[in-house]
Amino acid sequence: MIKMSFHSRELTLHKTPEQLNANPSPIPWDRAPARRVALVGFGTVGRAVANILCERTDGLLRLTHICNRNIERKKQSQGTGLSIPRDVVWTEDFQAILKSDVDIIVELIGGLTPAEELVRSALSAGKSVVTANKQLIARHGPDLLQLASANGCQLEFGASVAGGVPVLPALRTGLCGDRLHGIAGILNGTCNYILSRIETARIPFSEALEEAQARGYAEADASEDLDGGDARAKLSILALAGLHVQVPPGEIRARTIRPVDAVDFDYAAELGCTIRQISRADLKEETLFAEVGPSLVPTSSPFGRVQRNLNLVLTSGEYGGDMAFLGAGAGGDPTAVAVVSDLMFVAESLSAGSLSARSRPHRPLQLGSPKVSCDFETPWYLRLVVKDQPGIIASLAAILSAHQLNIDAVLQKPGFDKNALPFVITLEPCRDAQLHPALQEMSALSFALRPCLCLPILR
Ligand SMILES: NC(=O)c1ccc[n+]([C@@H]2O[C@H](COP(=O)([O-])OP(=O)(O)OC[C@H]3O[C@@H](n4cnc5c(N)ncnc54)[C@H](OP(=O)(O)O)[C@@H]3O)[C@@H](O)[C@H]2O)c1
Repeated sequence: MIKMSFHSRELTLHKTPEQLNANPSPIPWDRAPARRVALVGFGTVGRAVANILCERTDGLLRLTHICNRNIERKKQSQGTGLSIPRDVVWTEDFQAILKSDVDIIVELIGGLTPAEELVRSALSAGKSVVTANKQLIARHGPDLLQLASANGCQLEFGASVAGGVPVLPALRTGLCGDRLHGIAGILNGTCNYILSRIETARIPFSEALEEAQARGYAEADASEDLDGGDARAKLSILALAGLHVQVPPGEIRARTIRPVDAVDFDYAAELGCTIRQISRADLKEETLFAEVGPSLVPTSSPFGRVQRNLNLVLTSGEYGGDMAFLGAGAGGDPTAVAVVSDLMFVAESLSAGSLSARSRPHRPLQLGSPKVSCDFETPWYLRLVVKDQPGIIASLAAILSAHQLNIDAVLQKPGFDKNALPFVITLEPCRDAQLHPALQEMSALSFALRPCLCLPILR
């Protein structure tokens, strides 16, 4: 058994996974001492984790520390209503936790600063870490996993993608026998709430956003969600865990959902589709095709049926085919379940004196850092808003033809103001790079009132 005290730190710092695996006398986990857990960050998820830990009676995990800034205020406000034992230490002093005999540190502060430094110092001190922090894992995951491995401890981050949906543990165990080549998902509950509200109530984008903010599904500044920053960080983690490639989130193209409006759902419905923010990554030879953005999906498809703030992840494997994971992608309690499940894994493998299959460092990266491209080949939905005048279709058709792009259909619903007329052209499959110059020319035409909205149609 590994005893993680300050005095034994020297030893644990230099233990390799092989040395841990060589432990001759593992303790059956049901007879092992409870693993001591420190919570760092006592907000929405931290409070929910504390609640589960305090209600558990199996003796596997014991909450010993709660660390946050302004800790007295936290204790008075969020601490009330929970049955937190009197001997739990409430502190602002993270260094004291590092020096204590805590076994596992749960990082639930979020963001990069100071979370990155805290996690690095915990792992360097031989303490295993569980985190739900997508920014941290998307940017520094491989590096931190290496640090954990070098110090004979574990880093788990099952809650960092899709909240309570156990997709990351599934990628690392249940599907590790397959060779996955594609992952696609609805990974941002805020976007899905807004888009599915526009779909069902045909309200403007701005009204759906205000509603999401009023209900606590969107932050006052929701840019990270709306513009795809949140989802591409999650896609980067899924690519690491499932496709074994390392892609910085900034290399994945993200398109915003802001220009999508109620009329787009009317036109999408004519095509048998609806609109969702889809994150997708396909590994083809040496290239990872990846992007995040609003896309048309068939209404009857799994993506088309995901309503409100749920998450869905679909994986495609060479041997096992397609798999689906659906559930609550956010919220204190569902996310806390993922965190506590990670804690149980770490506790069990600490007691077994070995790194379990799941907690073993990730498989070697398949391609290291592959070339990243957003040059998908798909059919496209183009929505223009124009000041009506003769010759519009002829001008657009000339541009498309000059770029060798084939029109599939032209859709125009009656009843709109001729001074701001929305209509749609769908294109037969072509590559993104082929379409892009044509879009710029179309948006620059004198009758075009707004840039052309261009969405892939995913069948
Ligand atoms: N909420 C979800 O549904 C969800 C889902 C999946 C993953 N996650 C991830 O879970 C993590 C926690 O999210 P959350 O929703 O619980 O956030 P939160 O409610 O904002 O809680 C963060 C806590 O950390 C504390 N904190 C922030 N900076 C600190 C610092 N420098 N030193 C000490 N304490 C500090 C905050 O204190 P103050 O109150 O003083 O600010 C707050 O108590 C994030 O990484 C998030 O991305 C959340």
